[in-house]
Amino acid sequence: MKAMNLAGDQVSRIAQGCMRISGLSDSDLERLVNEDLENGINFFDHADIYGGNGACESRFGDLLRRCPGLRSRMLIQTKCGIRPGSYDFSRQHILSSVEGSLKRLGVETIDFLLLHRPDTLMEPEEVAGAFEELYKAGKVRHFGVSNHHPLQIELLQKAMPDLPLVINQLQFSITNTTMIDAGINVNMENAGAVNRDGMVLEYCRLKGITIQPWSPLQYGFFEGPFIGSEKFPELNQALEKYAGEYGITPTGLAIAWILRHPACMQPIIGSVRPERMAEIARAADVTISHDTWYELYRASGKKLP
Ligand SMILES: NC(=O)c1ccc[n+]([C@@H]2O[C@H](COP(=O)([O-])OP(=O)(O)OC[C@H]3O[C@@H](n4cnc5c(N)ncnc54)[C@H](OP(=O)(O)O)[C@@H]3O)[C@@H](O)[C@H]2O)c1
Repeated sequence: MKAMNLAGDQVSRIAQGCMRISGLSDSDLERLVNEDLENGINFFDHADIYGGNGACESRFGDLLRRCPGLRSRMLIQTKCGIRPGSYDFSRQHILSSVEGSLKRLGVETIDFLLLHRPDTLMEPEEVAGAFEELYKAGKVRHFGVSNHHPLQIELLQKAMPDLPLVINQLQFSITNTTMIDAGINVNMENAGAVNRDGMVLEYCRLKGITIQPWSPLQYGFFEGPFIGSEKFPELNQALEKYAGEYGITPTGLAIAWILRHPACMQPIIGSVRPERMAEIARAADVTISHDTWYELYRASGKKLP
C-alpha cells in the first residue's frame, strides 16, 4: 500500500482503529494485526478509554508481549483527555493517563498522543508543560488533537511553539461530510453552508496538520455502516456501480473516496475483520476520478449549489 509522511515517519494511508478489538480472541487479534502489517497497514489507533478501563490497550499490549517482534514494525497512537462525565486536560490527568497507556501497552514510547476532545477548562500552558515533560522523558514522540476547532489548536499551539500539533482526528465519511459541505456551499442560504468547524479542513491543509477521519464507514454518530443500509439506496447503488468499474468493493471505494481528497487524510478504519481490512487496503491504492468523486458525493444526498 502507498505510504505517506507523517511528522517524518512513513505511515500507511489507512490506519487500524482499535476501539472495537476488546471482544476478539487472542488468536483473532493476532491474525488481524499480522495481516494488517502484511497488507502495509502499520498505524494503530488507541485511546485510554477504549473498551472501558483501557481494555483495548491491555489486549493490544498482551499481544505485543506474546509477539515481541511486532512493536518495531508499527506506529502506536493513543489519546487522553476524556474522563467519565468530563473532559480533563490537566497536567495530572494527562501524565497519569499516559503512564497507564504505556503500562497497558507494555511499550516505552507512544509514537503519537492526541487530546481526545476539547476541554473547555484547559490551560494551554499546563498542557504544554505536560507535553514537554512527556517528550523530554522519551515517553511520547509526537502530539496532536482530536475533534478540535482551528482556534482551539491555535490556542494550544501558541503555548508550545516547539512541539507541533501534527494531527487532528475528526469525524468524516461519505455520509458525514460537514467538513467539506461548508466549503462547497460558501455564502449560500442552505443547510450545507453552515460552518460547524471553523473551516477545519482548510485550516489543517494550511498548517500541514494531518486529518484522520474517524468512523469513515458509519453514518450518524455510530448508527451503523452505510454500506448496504436501506437508508442510502442511491449511494449504495453508486458505490456498487463504481466499485465494479474500479475492480474494488463498495466498502473499499468508500475509503478510496476519502483518500482521493487532496488533503491527504489518513482514515482510521474500525473493522476487526482481516478480510475487510485487506479489501480496504487494496482499494487504498486506487485513485478514483474527479467525476466519480463528485458523483458519489451527490449520491450521498448532497446537492451542489
Ligand atoms: N477521535 C474520536 O473521537 C473517535 C471516535 C470514534 C472512533 N475513533 C477511532 O476511529 C476508529 C474507527 O471508528 P469506527 O469503528 O466507528 O469506524 P468504521 O470503520 O466506520 O466502522 C467499523 C464498524 O463498521 C463495521 N463495518 C464496516 N464496513 C462494513 C460493511 N461493509 N458491512 C458491515 N459492517 C461493516 C465493522 O464491522 P466488522 O468489524 O465486522 O468489519 C465495524 O463494526 C476507531 O476504532 C477508533 O480508533 C475515534
